[in-house]
Amino acid sequence: PRAIFFSRHGESMYNVLGKLGGDSDLSPRGRKYSEALPGLISKHLDGQNLTVWTSTMRRTIQTGQHLPYPKLQWKALDELDAGVCDGLTYEDVEQQYPEDFALRDDDKFNYRYRGGESYRDVVLRLEPVIMELERQHNILIVGHQAILRCIYAYYLNYSHEELPYIKIPLHTVLKLTPRAYGCDVEQYKFDI
Ligand code: F6P
Repeated sequence: PRAIFFSRHGESMYNVLGKLGGDSDLSPRGRKYSEALPGLISKHLDGQNLTVWTSTMRRTIQTGQHLPYPKLQWKALDELDAGVCDGLTYEDVEQQYPEDFALRDDDKFNYRYRGGESYRDVVLRLEPVIMELERQHNILIVGHQAILRCIYAYYLNYSHEELPYIKIPLHTVLKLTPRAYGCDVEQYKFDI
């Protein structure tokens, strides 16, 4: 059966600094993950074909760079746009935009960053990606935290309330195998 593999990008410099958004490069640990990824994937692919989808951001492209498969970049897979909060830490946001910080905590799915996006916005912009995903055979998406939450929630029927809190850990490959009813999920963690 076909499989959908998911991985967040390897740890980025912004992840190390705790900053939101941006377009930073991978950290040294993130680069190690990118080097380990081809082995991790081929081990669970059983010699089948695969296409790799990334966003247009440096951290997902760098994470996929050693994978020996055809690749496609999707703008629609770029991380949730944090608008005026892009480049800030959560502490910065709490200090500079306390009202927004509280509003997001109240309703994380619907909260839209000033000049940016909400999870609801992201679910909409992912529609064409999901339609194409349904038509494809084996795909690996090298993505971002908020984006992978939305796609994961689609396949596993999570509610809008749960979706923004789904745990998609770094340096882990998730393998989804759609079945007649529901989806099987396997997780492969890479320890660095
Ligand atoms: O911190 C990494 C990151 O991908 C940010 O770029 C993004 O704003 C955030 O995670 C999304 O997670 P949450 O919606 O929980 O803040």
